[in-house]
Amino acid sequence: MRALLSILLFGLATATSCWAGTANPAQGLTCTISPRGAGLDDTDQVLDAIAKCGHGGHTVLQEGVFNITRKMTWDLVDATVDLHGFLSFVPDIEFWLNANNTYRVVFIQSQASWFVITGSDFVVDAHNTGGIQGNGQPWWDFFTNQTREDGDGRPISLTVYRATRGTIRNFAIEAQPFWCNCVAESQSVVYDGMKCNASNANPAFAGTNIVPNTDGIDTYRSDNVSLLNWDITCGDDCLAIKGNSTNILARNVTCRGGNGIAFGSLGQYFNLTDIVENVFMEDLTMTRINASIQPNMNNGVYFKSWDDTSNGVPPTGGGAGPGHAKNITLKNVVLNQVNRPTTISQTNGGHTGDLPSKYIFEDVHYENWSGTSLTNEIIALECSAAANCTNISFTNFNLSIPAGETPEILCQNAIGVTGVTCS
Ligand SMILES: *[C@@H]1O[C@H](CO)[C@@H](O)[C@H](O)[C@H]1NC(C)=O
Ligand SMILES: *[C@@H]1O[C@H](CO)[C@@H](O)[C@H](O)[C@H]1NC(C)=O
Ligand SMILES: *[C@@H]1O[C@H](CO)[C@@H](O)[C@H](O)[C@H]1NC(C)=O
Ligand SMILES: *[C@@H]1O[C@H](CO)[C@@H](O)[C@H](O)[C@H]1NC(C)=O
Ligand SMILES: *[C@@H]1O[C@H](CO)[C@@H](O)[C@H](O)[C@H]1NC(C)=O
Ligand SMILES: *[C@@H]1O[C@H](CO)[C@@H](O)[C@H](O)[C@H]1NC(C)=O
Ligand SMILES: *[C@@H]1O[C@H](CO)[C@@H](O)[C@H](O)[C@H]1NC(C)=O
Ligand SMILES: *[C@@H]1O[C@H](CO)[C@@H](O)[C@H](O)[C@H]1NC(C)=O
Ligand SMILES: *[C@@H]1O[C@H](CO)[C@@H](O)[C@H](O)[C@H]1NC(C)=O
Ligand SMILES: *[C@@H]1O[C@H](CO)[C@@H](O)[C@H](O)[C@H]1NC(C)=O
Ligand SMILES: *[C@@H]1O[C@H](CO)[C@@H](O)[C@H](O)[C@H]1NC(C)=O
Ligand SMILES: *[C@@H]1O[C@H](CO)[C@@H](O)[C@H](O)[C@H]1NC(C)=O
Repeated sequence: MRALLSILLFGLATATSCWAGTANPAQGLTCTISPRGAGLDDTDQVLDAIAKCGHGGHTVLQEGVFNITRKMTWDLVDATVDLHGFLSFVPDIEFWLNANNTYRVVFIQSQASWFVITGSDFVVDAHNTGGIQGNGQPWWDFFTNQTREDGDGRPISLTVYRATRGTIRNFAIEAQPFWCNCVAESQSVVYDGMKCNASNANPAFAGTNIVPNTDGIDTYRSDNVSLLNWDITCGDDCLAIKGNSTNILARNVTCRGGNGIAFGSLGQYFNLTDIVENVFMEDLTMTRINASIQPNMNNGVYFKSWDDTSNGVPPTGGGAGPGHAKNITLKNVVLNQVNRPTTISQTNGGHTGDLPSKYIFEDVHYENWSGTSLTNEIIALECSAAANCTNISFTNFNLSIPAGETPEILCQNAIGVTGVTCS
């Protein structure tokens, strides 16, 4: 009934345009599937449904758990997917760490993906009942005694790659083993309603952060991306705005534990310019959670660039990359017991004797910040002498610090800091 109504309304609203004229084999087709049941593999039927209805059609995955045993790409064009259930990726760590079994479409740090959505003009709606089950606990346990390195093959849970005008809605990702989301080489993507939750439940590791790198999202080489109504529990960056992220909007984002919202790291590749421009974020909450599940709540919003000496090569090493991050607004931010409300640091991956970063941070605007900091270091702009941060403004920036302490506001190589008095 609702579908019929919206077709009628859509038909009326576009009565003068010839919207039904697109020649598309699956136009109007619907593919509906349900989980096959315990012990059975659902990957084939999911891929078949997308192959049949992913261009011009409608795919419905009913409630329940779909067992996904190998890498999967959804190519969606003029299509809708209703994902009522969960795509559960088998926790076969050895299998996924074999680079043959994942995609390497995310260029930065050669990160791996087990599930890629690509295409144009699509909606994937998980109706607040479905999404991805990452089965992260065995991964986090496994890596408590193995070295973690960027590009080591731990897969991103949901990668949106080379997508245009796509919407991901009311989607949950449970127990991401690594980054929860990444949007790369895409334009005009909207995420409206996204939950990620990496919460350790192994009592042997209570009180330690065994979920590093479980970032809510990394944005890379993408333009016009909206992150609306996010709720992220993780042990790392809640949002990480990486190179060539432009016209980014984040609104109503709750970050539970971890490192807070990051811009960076920027300048990892000496041969690539990292441009970050026109980022508007509002209604952000960073909140410390039960320390036995996640002990960290390190930052509110922080900025980080590599220095100007290249040490080693990506994915793990790097540095000396040029670029700038400018025109960034961070508005209506509430902090609950974070260690450091905001910092700019330019020595990522640095060694003594390295050259100072040339990466530029410019036009950063903090408006209406409140809440609590666990330290008195409320602002630390540790900018590079070879770049200088310029035009950093603070309006209604009112945070509580521990009783009896005086706030420390560090403005190193920062030109045009307004609204606060540097210490
Ligand atoms: C998923 O499918 C694999 C391969 O058929 C099977 O071995 C495994 O038991 C299934 N997992 C679940 C949870 O059903
Ligand atoms: C990956 O696939 C290639 C080509 O089939 C094969 O030569 C190689 O041994 C595989 N690597 C692993 C680790 O399985
Ligand atoms: C690593 O930890 C797992 C349990 O998480 C344990 O089974 C394994 O023996 C450990 N390996 C080493 C080398 O300590
Ligand atoms: C940005 O993305 C939104 C949502 O897809 C779209 O409506 C809008 O037209 C895009 N703007 C530009 C300038 O592309
Ligand atoms: C995250 O998951 C844990 C258990 O897995 C649960 O206790 C917690 O409430 C969840 N957090 C949110 C915000 O849903
Ligand atoms: C903010 O997002 C949460 C989901 O994370 C949602 O429940 C809530 O309704 C949103 N608030 C507003 C004002 O839209
Ligand atoms: C930049 O360097 C990386 C290796 O670190 C290489 O993979 C990439 O192709 C280079 N890009 C350009 C544009 O030279
Ligand atoms: C960012 O875009 C510029 C062109 O605008 C390009 O030169 C540069 O290589 C891109 N950087 C990355 C990380 O892709
Ligand atoms: C700065 O970014 C905002 C979006 O946050 C945009 O509306 C505005 O046009 C940008 N300003 C400039 C000078 O580009
Ligand atoms: C914190 O989490 C631990 C482990 O799940 C639980 O035992 C404890 O009761 C929780 N503490 C609070 C204050 O909720
Ligand atoms: C400041 O931020 C708080 C928390 O988001 C919000 O409730 C309040 O309305 C904001 N004040 C103004 C003037 O926008
Ligand atoms: C940084 O600012 C100082 C003080 O205004 C100035 O002397 C210096 O030339 C600037 N450096 C750069 C790289 O712009």
